[in-house]
Amino acid sequence: MGTGFSHYSVMLKECIDGLEIKKDGLYVDCTAGGGGHSLEIAKRLDPSLGGHLIAIDRDIEAIEATRERLGEYIDRAELVNDNFANLREILGGREPDGVLIDLGVSSHQIDTAERGFSYNLDSRLDMRMNRADPVSAYEIVNGYGEEQLANIIYNYGEERFSRRIASAIVKKRLEKPIETTLELERIVSGAVPHKENGSSPAKRTFQAIRIEVNHELEIIEPTVRLISSVLKKGGVIAVITFHSLEDRIVKLTVNDLCTGCTCPPSFPVCVCGRKPVLEKITKKPIIPSDKENEENKRSHSAKLRLARKL
Ligand SMILES: C[S@@+](CC[C@H](N)C(=O)[O-])C[C@H]1O[C@@H](n2cnc3c(N)ncnc32)[C@H](O)[C@@H]1O
Repeated sequence: MGTGFSHYSVMLKECIDGLEIKKDGLYVDCTAGGGGHSLEIAKRLDPSLGGHLIAIDRDIEAIEATRERLGEYIDRAELVNDNFANLREILGGREPDGVLIDLGVSSHQIDTAERGFSYNLDSRLDMRMNRADPVSAYEIVNGYGEEQLANIIYNYGEERFSRRIASAIVKKRLEKPIETTLELERIVSGAVPHKENGSSPAKRTFQAIRIEVNHELEIIEPTVRLISSVLKKGGVIAVITFHSLEDRIVKLTVNDLCTGCTCPPSFPVCVCGRKPVLEKITKKPIIPSDKENEENKRSHSAKLRLARKL
């Protein structure tokens, strides 16, 4: 039986070309999702030569979808239901030739009502990528203090009406707990002064709560550093981001890892001992083509950054 998992794989060709896949190499897809990138990597590997893929996702439904998507190519793949923050343990000393992270949520997670990610689909508030995690959107919306909520909505949603929204949430939940996505959507919509064309005013608040539920931002920098330390020499890291908060962290971390000696030019010899770990392959991020943006509106904010281990 099919998993019914659908996800348009963003910048698929650009990622696969960027990873420069060798048929005997070891590759890691940290965010397997619907298995689209994993499948294209797996097809290019030769298991008789040692070619191998490790596909990770914290969402068990994504792992099952990837298993199904890989089909006959499963013989060269290892599926791991875990957080990519645990990559070192997952690798157990193996050094990959390429690692991909395609950050954020999958279309499947957003479009499956009962996962509670969408402000368009009615469901109990949830938003956990891993449903075994202890804290869901329900606990955050009903349990966090007003200031804490306002800060999250401001910092992770870049929402200028964060204080009004937090105040409206706290006022409403005095009557009864806020149980569903649509209840939250109505509260947020009622708290902001005007609607922007097209999308719901709740979009930014939902993004913020989702980021808090899944600790999405705090694991990016340590994971990029971890990947750069475990990659084989010459190996490639590819990171796709979907909003400026993610992209900024990736950009600054990669810049830092690409930085060598920081001694003042007047020093005759280097005393800091600092050496670059990565070199950039993309000076500016790659963005989706117009054709891809037409085919998939969720691609339009995506950015792909590539770097090589020195
Ligand atoms: C944008 S989707 C990936 C789509 C995939 N590249 C494809 O082609 O179908 C992101 C996936 O990453 C997973 N994910 C996000 N953060 C994660 C983390 N810290 N550890 C493991 N998986 C994570 C989500 O559960 C989701 O399935």
